[in-house]
Amino acid sequence: MLTENTINLGNLLLSISDAIDIVNRSLSSHQMRTAFIAWQMTESAKMPKNTKERILIGALLHDVGALTPEDKIRLHNFEENSLDAHCSRGAELFELSPLLQPSAAMVRYHHKPWEKWMGATIADPDVFDSQLLYLADLVERLIKRNIFILHQHEKIIQKIIARTGSEIHPDIVDLFVNVSKREEFWLDLLSPRLFSLLLHHGPCKKTELEIMEIFSIVPFVRSIIDFKSHFTATHSTGVAECAYHVAKLFGLTDKTISRLKLAGYFHDIGKLAVPNAILDKPDKLTKTEFAIIKQHTYFTYSVLSTIGGLGDIPEWAAFHHEKLDGSGYPFHVDRTKINTGSRIMAVADVFTALAEDRPYRSGMQRSEIAKILANMAKDQGLDKRIVELLLDNFEDIRENVREQQALVHAEYNKLVS
Ligand SMILES: [Fe+2]
Ligand SMILES: [Fe+2]
Ligand SMILES: [Fe+2]
Repeated sequence: MLTENTINLGNLLLSISDAIDIVNRSLSSHQMRTAFIAWQMTESAKMPKNTKERILIGALLHDVGALTPEDKIRLHNFEENSLDAHCSRGAELFELSPLLQPSAAMVRYHHKPWEKWMGATIADPDVFDSQLLYLADLVERLIKRNIFILHQHEKIIQKIIARTGSEIHPDIVDLFVNVSKREEFWLDLLSPRLFSLLLHHGPCKKTELEIMEIFSIVPFVRSIIDFKSHFTATHSTGVAECAYHVAKLFGLTDKTISRLKLAGYFHDIGKLAVPNAILDKPDKLTKTEFAIIKQHTYFTYSVLSTIGGLGDIPEWAAFHHEKLDGSGYPFHVDRTKINTGSRIMAVADVFTALAEDRPYRSGMQRSEIAKILANMAKDQGLDKRIVELLLDNFEDIRENVREQQALVHAEYNKLVS
Protein backbone atom coordinates (compact mmCIF):
# COMPACT_ATOMS: atom_id res chain seq x y z
CA MET A 1 0.00 0.00 0.00
CA LEU A 2 1.27 3.47 -0.79
CA THR A 3 1.77 5.82 2.12
CA GLU A 4 1.93 9.60 2.00
CA ASN A 5 5.69 9.25 2.26
CA THR A 6 6.11 7.31 -0.93
CA ILE A 7 8.04 9.02 -3.68
CA ASN A 8 7.74 8.20 -7.35
CA LEU A 9 11.17 7.39 -8.80
CA GLY A 10 10.24 8.79 -12.21
CA ASN A 11 9.14 12.06 -10.68
CA LEU A 12 12.33 12.31 -8.61
CA LEU A 13 14.60 11.75 -11.62
CA LEU A 14 12.55 13.87 -14.02
CA SER A 15 12.66 16.73 -11.52
CA ILE A 16 16.45 16.48 -11.17
CA SER A 17 16.90 16.20 -14.93
CA ASP A 18 14.71 19.25 -15.46
CA ALA A 19 16.60 21.28 -12.84
CA ILE A 20 19.93 20.51 -14.51
CA ASP A 21 18.84 21.68 -17.96
CA ILE A 22 16.73 24.67 -16.97
CA VAL A 23 19.85 26.84 -16.72
CA ASN A 24 19.88 27.84 -20.38
CA ARG A 25 17.29 28.14 -23.12
CA SER A 26 19.39 26.28 -25.68
CA LEU A 27 19.82 23.39 -23.24
CA SER A 28 16.43 23.22 -21.55
CA SER A 29 14.86 19.74 -21.48
CA HIS A 30 17.81 18.26 -23.45
CA GLN A 31 18.09 15.19 -21.22
CA MET A 32 14.33 14.82 -20.88
CA ARG A 33 13.84 14.91 -24.65
CA THR A 34 16.73 12.48 -25.12
CA ALA A 35 15.00 10.19 -22.61
CA PHE A 36 11.72 10.45 -24.50
CA ILE A 37 13.36 9.47 -27.81
CA ALA A 38 15.12 6.54 -26.12
CA TRP A 39 11.93 5.42 -24.36
CA GLN A 40 9.87 5.50 -27.57
CA MET A 41 12.50 3.31 -29.22
CA THR A 42 12.41 0.80 -26.35
CA GLU A 43 8.59 0.75 -26.61
CA SER A 44 8.78 0.09 -30.33
CA ALA A 45 11.31 -2.73 -29.71
CA LYS A 46 8.96 -4.16 -27.02
CA MET A 47 11.77 -4.29 -24.48
CA PRO A 48 11.07 -5.68 -20.98
CA LYS A 49 10.09 -3.19 -18.25
CA ASN A 50 13.44 -3.27 -16.44
CA THR A 51 15.31 -2.51 -19.69
CA LYS A 52 12.98 0.39 -20.45
CA GLU A 53 13.49 1.71 -16.92
CA ARG A 54 17.28 1.36 -17.06
CA ILE A 55 17.47 3.20 -20.39
CA LEU A 56 15.08 5.96 -19.30
CA ILE A 57 17.09 6.57 -16.11
CA GLY A 58 20.42 6.70 -17.96
CA ALA A 59 19.06 9.03 -20.63
CA LEU A 60 17.41 11.41 -18.14
CA LEU A 61 20.72 12.16 -16.45
CA HIS A 62 23.26 11.17 -19.11
CA ASP A 63 25.23 14.46 -19.12
CA VAL A 64 25.78 14.85 -15.35
CA GLY A 65 29.49 14.25 -15.89
CA ALA A 66 29.69 17.69 -17.52
CA LEU A 67 29.78 19.39 -14.16
CA THR A 68 29.08 23.00 -15.07
CA PRO A 69 26.23 24.41 -17.16
CA GLU A 70 28.87 26.01 -19.39
CA ASP A 71 30.34 22.52 -20.12
CA LYS A 72 26.88 21.17 -20.88
CA ILE A 73 26.08 23.98 -23.30
CA ARG A 74 29.35 23.40 -25.20
CA LEU A 75 28.51 19.70 -25.52
CA HIS A 76 25.00 20.42 -26.64
CA ASN A 77 26.13 22.82 -29.34
CA PHE A 78 28.74 20.39 -30.78
CA GLU A 79 31.52 22.73 -29.57
CA GLU A 80 33.31 20.25 -27.28
CA ASN A 81 36.10 18.23 -28.86
CA SER A 82 36.90 15.88 -26.02
CA LEU A 83 33.76 13.94 -25.25
CA ASP A 84 35.30 11.25 -23.07
CA ALA A 85 35.71 13.18 -19.80
CA HIS A 86 32.00 13.79 -19.15
CA CYS A 87 31.17 10.18 -20.09
CA SER A 88 33.61 8.58 -17.66
CA ARG A 89 32.83 11.07 -14.89
CA GLY A 90 29.10 10.58 -15.48
CA ALA A 91 29.48 6.80 -15.18
CA GLU A 92 31.42 7.22 -11.91
CA LEU A 93 28.62 9.41 -10.56
CA PHE A 94 26.01 6.80 -11.56
CA GLU A 95 28.07 4.18 -9.71
CA LEU A 96 27.50 6.15 -6.48
CA SER A 97 23.88 5.04 -6.23
CA PRO A 98 22.49 1.49 -6.41
CA LEU A 99 19.37 2.90 -8.08
CA LEU A 100 21.40 4.38 -10.92
CA GLN A 101 24.25 1.88 -11.15
CA PRO A 102 22.57 -0.34 -13.82
CA SER A 103 22.61 2.65 -16.20
CA ALA A 104 26.30 3.52 -15.61
CA ALA A 105 27.63 1.62 -18.65
CA MET A 106 25.38 3.39 -21.15
CA VAL A 107 26.42 6.76 -19.73
CA ARG A 108 30.07 5.70 -19.99
CA TYR A 109 29.79 4.88 -23.70
CA HIS A 110 27.07 7.19 -24.96
CA HIS A 111 29.40 8.94 -27.40
CA LYS A 112 31.18 5.81 -28.64
CA PRO A 113 30.43 5.31 -32.36
CA TRP A 114 29.50 1.83 -33.58
CA GLU A 115 32.72 1.48 -35.62
CA LYS A 116 34.77 1.76 -32.41
CA TRP A 117 32.93 -1.15 -30.73
CA MET A 118 35.41 -3.62 -32.25
CA GLY A 119 34.13 -7.22 -32.12
CA ALA A 120 31.07 -6.28 -30.07
CA THR A 121 27.53 -7.40 -30.73
CA ILE A 122 24.41 -5.25 -30.51
CA ALA A 123 22.80 -8.07 -28.49
CA ASP A 124 25.06 -7.09 -25.57
CA PRO A 125 22.85 -4.84 -23.36
CA ASP A 126 25.71 -2.39 -22.66
CA VAL A 127 26.27 -1.92 -26.40
CA PHE A 128 22.56 -1.74 -27.18
CA ASP A 129 21.85 0.82 -24.44
CA SER A 130 24.87 2.97 -25.35
CA GLN A 131 24.07 3.00 -29.05
CA LEU A 132 20.46 3.85 -28.36
CA LEU A 133 21.53 6.75 -26.17
CA TYR A 134 24.11 7.80 -28.78
CA LEU A 135 21.33 8.16 -31.33
CA ALA A 136 18.77 9.76 -29.00
CA ASP A 137 21.26 12.38 -27.78
CA LEU A 138 22.30 13.19 -31.34
CA VAL A 139 18.72 13.55 -32.58
CA GLU A 140 17.93 15.95 -29.75
CA ARG A 141 20.99 18.08 -30.51
CA LEU A 142 20.17 18.19 -34.23
CA ILE A 143 16.83 19.87 -33.52
CA LYS A 144 16.95 23.58 -34.28
CA ARG A 145 15.03 25.26 -31.51
CA ASN A 146 13.86 28.18 -33.64
CA ILE A 147 12.28 26.08 -36.42
CA PHE A 148 8.91 24.26 -36.23
CA ILE A 149 9.66 20.58 -35.71
CA LEU A 150 7.62 19.27 -38.66
CA HIS A 151 9.55 21.62 -40.93
CA GLN A 152 12.83 19.93 -40.00
CA HIS A 153 12.15 16.34 -38.86
CA GLU A 154 12.70 14.75 -42.27
CA LYS A 155 16.14 16.31 -42.53
CA ILE A 156 17.03 14.97 -39.08
CA ILE A 157 15.92 11.46 -40.06
CA GLN A 158 18.12 11.68 -43.16
CA LYS A 159 21.11 12.80 -41.08
CA ILE A 160 20.68 9.79 -38.81
CA ILE A 161 20.26 7.36 -41.75
CA ALA A 162 23.52 8.74 -43.19
CA ARG A 163 25.32 7.49 -40.07
CA THR A 164 24.10 3.88 -40.41
CA GLY A 165 26.85 1.32 -39.96
CA SER A 166 29.55 3.89 -39.20
CA GLU A 167 28.41 5.75 -36.09
CA ILE A 168 25.21 3.84 -35.37
CA HIS A 169 24.30 0.15 -35.68
CA PRO A 170 21.70 -0.52 -38.43
CA ASP A 171 19.27 -2.14 -35.94
CA ILE A 172 19.24 1.02 -33.81
CA VAL A 173 18.72 3.23 -36.87
CA ASP A 174 15.83 0.96 -37.96
CA LEU A 175 14.22 1.31 -34.56
CA PHE A 176 14.45 5.07 -34.78
CA VAL A 177 13.17 5.24 -38.36
CA ASN A 178 10.18 3.19 -37.30
CA VAL A 179 9.36 5.50 -34.39
CA SER A 180 10.09 8.72 -36.26
CA LYS A 181 7.54 8.04 -39.02
CA ARG A 182 4.79 9.33 -36.75
CA GLU A 183 4.41 13.10 -36.62
CA GLU A 184 2.88 12.50 -33.20
CA PHE A 185 6.31 11.37 -31.92
CA TRP A 186 7.88 14.70 -32.91
CA LEU A 187 5.02 16.78 -31.58
CA ASP A 188 5.16 14.96 -28.22
CA LEU A 189 8.93 15.42 -28.13
CA LEU A 190 8.61 19.19 -28.41
CA SER A 191 5.49 19.44 -26.27
CA PRO A 192 5.65 21.59 -23.12
CA ARG A 193 3.76 18.69 -21.51
CA LEU A 194 6.67 16.29 -21.98
CA PHE A 195 7.41 16.12 -18.23
CA SER A 196 3.90 14.98 -17.41
CA LEU A 197 3.82 12.65 -20.40
CA LEU A 198 6.93 10.82 -19.17
CA LEU A 199 5.70 10.91 -15.59
CA HIS A 200 2.29 9.40 -16.28
CA HIS A 201 3.12 7.07 -19.16
CA GLY A 202 6.87 6.43 -18.86
CA PRO A 203 8.44 3.19 -17.59
CA CYS A 204 8.89 4.48 -14.00
CA LYS A 205 5.26 5.47 -13.56
CA LYS A 206 4.65 2.83 -10.91
CA THR A 207 8.07 2.66 -9.26
CA GLU A 208 7.70 4.02 -5.75
CA LEU A 209 10.39 4.61 -3.11
CA GLU A 210 10.03 4.95 0.64
CA ILE A 211 11.28 8.35 1.76
CA MET A 212 14.32 6.82 3.49
CA GLU A 213 15.30 5.04 0.27
CA ILE A 214 16.12 8.48 -1.11
CA PHE A 215 19.27 8.37 1.02
CA SER A 216 20.62 5.86 -1.50
CA ILE A 217 20.60 8.57 -4.16
CA VAL A 218 22.12 11.24 -1.88
CA PRO A 219 25.80 10.71 -2.87
CA PHE A 220 24.80 11.24 -6.51
CA VAL A 221 22.61 14.29 -5.89
CA ARG A 222 24.98 16.09 -3.55
CA SER A 223 27.82 15.48 -5.99
CA ILE A 224 26.05 16.95 -8.98
CA ILE A 225 25.01 19.97 -6.91
CA ASP A 226 28.31 20.60 -5.13
CA PHE A 227 30.94 19.42 -7.59
CA LYS A 228 29.97 22.24 -9.94
CA SER A 229 32.57 24.33 -8.15
CA HIS A 230 35.52 23.44 -5.94
CA PHE A 231 34.45 26.17 -3.51
CA THR A 232 31.20 24.35 -2.78
CA ALA A 233 32.47 20.79 -3.33
CA THR A 234 31.43 19.68 0.16
CA HIS A 235 28.88 22.37 1.05
CA SER A 236 25.67 20.29 1.12
CA THR A 237 27.44 17.62 3.15
CA GLY A 238 28.45 20.27 5.69
CA VAL A 239 24.96 21.73 5.91
CA ALA A 240 23.35 18.28 6.25
CA GLU A 241 25.80 17.26 8.98
CA CYS A 242 25.46 20.52 10.88
CA ALA A 243 21.64 20.46 10.67
CA TYR A 244 21.68 16.85 11.87
CA HIS A 245 23.70 17.68 15.01
CA VAL A 246 21.79 20.86 15.84
CA ALA A 247 18.46 19.05 15.39
CA LYS A 248 19.66 16.31 17.74
CA LEU A 249 20.72 18.84 20.38
CA PHE A 250 17.40 20.59 19.93
CA GLY A 251 15.68 17.34 20.91
CA LEU A 252 13.75 16.70 17.70
CA THR A 253 12.48 13.17 16.91
CA ASP A 254 14.72 10.71 15.05
CA LYS A 255 12.40 10.85 12.05
CA THR A 256 12.59 14.64 11.87
CA ILE A 257 16.36 14.62 12.35
CA SER A 258 16.90 12.30 9.36
CA ARG A 259 14.51 14.33 7.23
CA LEU A 260 16.38 17.51 8.12
CA LYS A 261 19.59 15.84 7.06
CA LEU A 262 17.97 15.01 3.73
CA ALA A 263 16.82 18.63 3.39
CA GLY A 264 20.44 19.68 4.01
CA TYR A 265 21.68 17.52 1.16
CA PHE A 266 19.04 18.95 -1.19
CA HIS A 267 18.91 22.58 -0.02
CA ASP A 268 20.96 23.99 -2.90
CA ILE A 269 19.55 21.77 -5.66
CA GLY A 270 18.29 25.00 -7.26
CA LYS A 271 21.96 26.01 -7.77
CA LEU A 272 21.98 23.61 -10.70
CA ALA A 273 20.11 26.41 -12.46
CA VAL A 274 22.81 29.04 -11.78
CA PRO A 275 25.72 29.47 -14.23
CA ASN A 276 29.18 28.95 -12.78
CA ALA A 277 30.30 32.31 -14.13
CA ILE A 278 28.19 33.79 -11.32
CA LEU A 279 28.77 31.15 -8.63
CA ASP A 280 32.56 31.36 -9.00
CA LYS A 281 32.85 35.11 -9.55
CA PRO A 282 35.71 36.46 -7.41
CA ASP A 283 34.31 40.02 -7.19
CA LYS A 284 31.19 41.38 -5.60
CA LEU A 285 28.08 40.40 -7.58
CA THR A 286 26.18 43.09 -9.45
CA LYS A 287 22.48 43.57 -8.77
CA THR A 288 21.64 41.70 -11.99
CA GLU A 289 23.87 38.77 -11.04
CA PHE A 290 22.49 38.62 -7.51
CA ALA A 291 18.96 38.45 -8.97
CA ILE A 292 20.03 35.24 -10.73
CA ILE A 293 21.43 33.83 -7.47
CA LYS A 294 18.12 34.62 -5.79
CA GLN A 295 16.38 32.11 -8.05
CA HIS A 296 18.20 29.16 -6.55
CA THR A 297 15.99 28.63 -3.50
CA TYR A 298 12.92 29.23 -5.63
CA PHE A 299 14.06 26.34 -7.84
CA THR A 300 14.91 24.25 -4.79
CA TYR A 301 11.29 24.61 -3.70
CA SER A 302 9.82 24.04 -7.13
CA VAL A 303 11.94 20.92 -7.76
CA LEU A 304 11.37 19.35 -4.34
CA SER A 305 7.68 20.17 -4.10
CA THR A 306 7.08 18.79 -7.60
CA ILE A 307 8.52 15.44 -6.52
CA GLY A 308 5.68 15.07 -4.00
CA GLY A 309 5.59 12.97 -0.83
CA LEU A 310 8.48 14.84 0.82
CA GLY A 311 6.41 16.46 3.58
CA ASP A 312 8.18 19.48 5.11
CA ILE A 313 11.48 18.82 3.31
CA PRO A 314 10.88 21.23 0.38
CA GLU A 315 10.11 24.06 2.78
CA TRP A 316 13.01 23.34 5.15
CA ALA A 317 15.37 23.16 2.19
CA ALA A 318 14.07 26.21 0.34
CA PHE A 319 13.76 28.67 3.23
CA HIS A 320 17.45 28.74 4.07
CA HIS A 321 17.89 32.36 2.91
CA GLU A 322 14.70 33.61 4.58
CA LYS A 323 15.02 35.76 7.69
CA LEU A 324 12.83 35.94 10.77
CA ASP A 325 12.10 39.63 10.14
CA GLY A 326 10.93 38.87 6.58
CA SER A 327 13.93 40.49 4.88
CA GLY A 328 15.30 37.29 3.34
CA TYR A 329 14.71 35.99 -0.22
CA PRO A 330 12.90 35.00 -2.39
CA PHE A 331 9.70 34.19 -0.44
CA HIS A 332 9.96 36.96 2.18
CA VAL A 333 8.27 34.79 4.79
CA ASP A 334 8.78 35.87 8.41
CA ARG A 335 8.89 34.24 11.88
CA THR A 336 5.20 33.34 11.70
CA LYS A 337 5.87 31.08 8.70
CA ILE A 338 9.44 29.89 9.34
CA ASN A 339 9.28 26.71 11.41
CA THR A 340 12.02 25.08 13.51
CA GLY A 341 13.31 22.89 10.66
CA SER A 342 13.77 25.88 8.37
CA ARG A 343 15.42 27.88 11.17
CA ILE A 344 17.92 25.07 11.77
CA MET A 345 18.64 24.84 8.04
CA ALA A 346 19.30 28.60 7.81
CA VAL A 347 21.78 28.50 10.73
CA ALA A 348 23.48 25.37 9.33
CA ASP A 349 23.84 27.04 5.93
CA VAL A 350 25.42 30.23 7.30
CA PHE A 351 27.74 28.31 9.63
CA THR A 352 28.94 25.98 6.85
CA ALA A 353 29.36 28.77 4.30
CA LEU A 354 31.40 30.94 6.68
CA ALA A 355 33.78 28.09 7.45
CA GLU A 356 34.37 27.39 3.74
CA ASP A 357 36.62 29.21 1.29
CA ARG A 358 34.80 31.38 -1.23
CA PRO A 359 36.10 32.93 -4.48
CA TYR A 360 36.35 36.31 -2.70
CA ARG A 361 37.63 35.22 0.80
CA SER A 362 39.10 32.27 2.75
CA GLY A 363 37.22 30.18 5.32
CA MET A 364 36.74 31.95 8.64
CA GLN A 365 38.01 31.06 12.12
CA ARG A 366 35.79 30.27 15.12
CA SER A 367 35.80 33.80 16.59
CA GLU A 368 34.74 35.41 13.33
CA ILE A 369 32.01 32.82 12.67
CA ALA A 370 30.66 33.20 16.22
CA LYS A 371 30.59 36.98 15.88
CA ILE A 372 28.68 36.92 12.59
CA LEU A 373 26.19 34.31 13.78
CA ALA A 374 25.53 36.22 17.02
CA ASN A 375 25.00 39.45 15.08
CA MET A 376 22.61 37.77 12.67
CA ALA A 377 20.62 36.43 15.62
CA LYS A 378 20.53 39.89 17.19
CA ASP A 379 19.39 41.56 13.96
CA GLN A 380 16.40 39.24 13.62
CA GLY A 381 17.89 37.21 10.80
CA LEU A 382 18.56 33.89 12.49
CA ASP A 383 16.89 32.16 15.46
CA LYS A 384 18.74 33.10 18.64
CA ARG A 385 18.13 29.79 20.47
CA ILE A 386 19.49 27.78 17.58
CA VAL A 387 22.54 30.00 17.16
CA GLU A 388 23.30 29.67 20.89
CA LEU A 389 22.89 25.91 20.72
CA LEU A 390 25.39 25.78 17.89
CA LEU A 391 27.86 28.15 19.57
CA ASP A 392 27.67 26.18 22.85
CA ASN A 393 28.65 23.02 20.96
CA PHE A 394 30.86 24.68 18.36
CA GLU A 395 33.95 22.44 18.47
CA ASP A 396 31.96 19.21 18.47
CA ILE A 397 29.80 20.24 15.54
CA ARG A 398 32.70 21.70 13.58
CA GLU A 399 34.69 18.50 14.08
CA ASN A 400 31.84 16.32 12.79
CA VAL A 401 31.21 18.61 9.86
CA ARG A 402 34.92 18.68 8.95
CA GLU A 403 35.16 14.90 9.15
CA GLN A 404 32.25 14.34 6.75
CA GLN A 405 33.45 17.09 4.43
CA ALA A 406 36.94 15.55 4.30
CA LEU A 407 35.48 12.22 3.12
CA VAL A 408 33.56 13.93 0.33
CA HIS A 409 36.55 16.08 -0.56
CA ALA A 410 38.53 12.92 -1.26
CA GLU A 411 35.71 11.76 -3.61
CA TYR A 412 35.77 15.16 -5.33
CA ASN A 413 39.53 15.10 -5.89
CA LYS A 414 39.33 11.61 -7.34
CA LEU A 415 36.53 12.53 -9.72
CA VAL A 416 37.73 15.91 -10.86
CA SER A 417 41.48 15.37 -11.10
FE1 LIG B 1 26.96 13.64 -23.66
FE1 LIG C 1 23.60 14.94 -24.14
FE1 LIG D 1 21.75 28.66 -0.76
